[in-house]
Amino acid sequence: MSSGPWVEKYRPQKLEEIVGQQHIVKRLEKYVLQESMPNLMFTGSAGVGKTTTSLALVKSILGENWRANFLELNASDARGIDTVRNQIKDFCRLKPVGTPFRIIFLDEVDNMTKDAQHALRREMEMYSKTTSFILSCNYSSKIIDPIQSRCAIFRFAPIKGQDVVNRLIYIADSEHIKYEESAIDSIVYFAEGDMRKAINILQASASMDEEVNDENIYDVISKAKPQDISKMVTKAISGDFIGARELLREVMVLQGISGEDMVNQIYQDVTKRIMDETMSGDVYMELIGLIAETDFRIREGSNPRIQLEALLAQFL
Ligand SMILES: Nc1ncnc2c1ncn2[C@@H]1O[C@H](COP(=O)(O)OP(=O)(O)OP(=O)(O)O)[C@@H](O)[C@H]1O
Ligand SMILES: [Mg+2]
Repeated sequence: MSSGPWVEKYRPQKLEEIVGQQHIVKRLEKYVLQESMPNLMFTGSAGVGKTTTSLALVKSILGENWRANFLELNASDARGIDTVRNQIKDFCRLKPVGTPFRIIFLDEVDNMTKDAQHALRREMEMYSKTTSFILSCNYSSKIIDPIQSRCAIFRFAPIKGQDVVNRLIYIADSEHIKYEESAIDSIVYFAEGDMRKAINILQASASMDEEVNDENIYDVISKAKPQDISKMVTKAISGDFIGARELLREVMVLQGISGEDMVNQIYQDVTKRIMDETMSGDVYMELIGLIAETDFRIREGSNPRIQLEALLAQFL
């Protein structure tokens, strides 16, 4: 097993290696064939391949001279937006070297103020002959219309569960680590389509033990095991308050799960019961009111353990 972050080691270098996002890759490959591209905007949630795709595109479209003709900036640079704009200006003043145009990749554009976005728009106009922009953001709705209308917009979807499973297995095999299949499924469940998160959980749990299993995954993500929560809820509903309380203590004190996570997971467990039809609608309605109340009190700052015990006591 090698050291160094796997998210970097297994970052796809070529467009055809990118997992999912096929419709996007297809459109981008056309730009590569035409050796030209408009300004682009990549939007979508975290860890779905926006930065990765930009880098792969830049390498294919600019070829071996890509480094000299590419600038990567983060709009929420701690040194301020003026530094970012000065870097853009300095870069754009130079002519492309051995390529038809140059590319600026600007990350986290949704963190720019409206004023800064208007200034950026003017720069995009001014240097449009020699420089194409790739703008990346989580929410396109936070970007002013004049910028949106100057870009071809690409919406990145969360990565499909099966695609994440396949990628994790590929990485695990390449690193020669053993894993339980159910553990891979748990990672995919908690990663919610975020490939970066999935790979990071895999690496962290692989470093804890010889084998990636459910036990070390729940340690890594510091969530309670769904089975433990389920047992606790069952005990509370069936009147075994002492048993439920003991499980609560175990999960919160020994495993260090936060009160807010506990309420959330109890909510998920109860919801699953109504979906599986193992709980009646009447009971559900009553419990959900109690859960909401507990959630509110914990957020307001009440002692989470007392609130959760009180919740379990009312479950009967
Ligand atoms: N579509 C994908 N195919 C394969 N690996 C991916 C994909 N998306 C993300 N990854 C993995 O996750 C890491 C992070 O992805 P990337 O930096 O592209 O995310 P991002 O969409 O730019 O996220 P953010 O919004 O946080 O900037 C990559 O280095 C890679 O290992
Ligand atoms: Mg990114």
